[in-house]
Amino acid sequence: MNEAERNILGLHLPTDPRWVNLAAISLEDILTDHAYCEQKAATSCISLIQRYPDKIELVNGLSPIVTEEWGHFRLVLQELRKRNLQLGKQRKDEYVNKLLQFEIKGGREEDRLLDKLLICALIEARSCERFKRLSEGLHDDYLRNFYRRFMESEAGHYVTFIELAETYIDKEKVRKRWQEWLVYEADIIKNLEPRGDRMH
Ligand SMILES: [Fe+2]
Ligand SMILES: [Fe+2]
Repeated sequence: MNEAERNILGLHLPTDPRWVNLAAISLEDILTDHAYCEQKAATSCISLIQRYPDKIELVNGLSPIVTEEWGHFRLVLQELRKRNLQLGKQRKDEYVNKLLQFEIKGGREEDRLLDKLLICALIEARSCERFKRLSEGLHDDYLRNFYRRFMESEAGHYVTFIELAETYIDKEKVRKRWQEWLVYEADIIKNLEPRGDRMH
């Protein structure tokens, strides 16, 4: 992936600084939300594999990511257990629900595949950005490192989703639709109620 291609990945809007009001956040809530993000990332990859079993690069590219995301879930669970914290209930994910409203549901199969891959890419990009904030803002050295490792891993994932889109769909079309998604996503971020304890 060259520099110009990398630039298309840029999120338009940083997370609201109030999101990382770290003093006010319960670690239990952060880790619980994070655990479900990892679980959802694994299940999204599984769904894509189930939907497109004939797409060899997709199946081969996403299979190891399922393992990685599930490994991430287990790491987060381990942190909760270590600290005597509970894995709470999964809560409504307003960010992801809003993203899904923009997804093309009908029409050509190619367009639907493109949107599914770009949604995954966006979620990875946004997670990466938020893990970066946690890795910079948390006071606990161990947790800063913990989040730095997640940040690097999610960055790799979002590149994989974009590259998969470019494997199956014309690059110019991918670029154009990605730009539309970035605009839409920035709007979601702008209008989301800032919550200190949510991953999104
Ligand atoms: Fe992950
Ligand atoms: Fe990921």
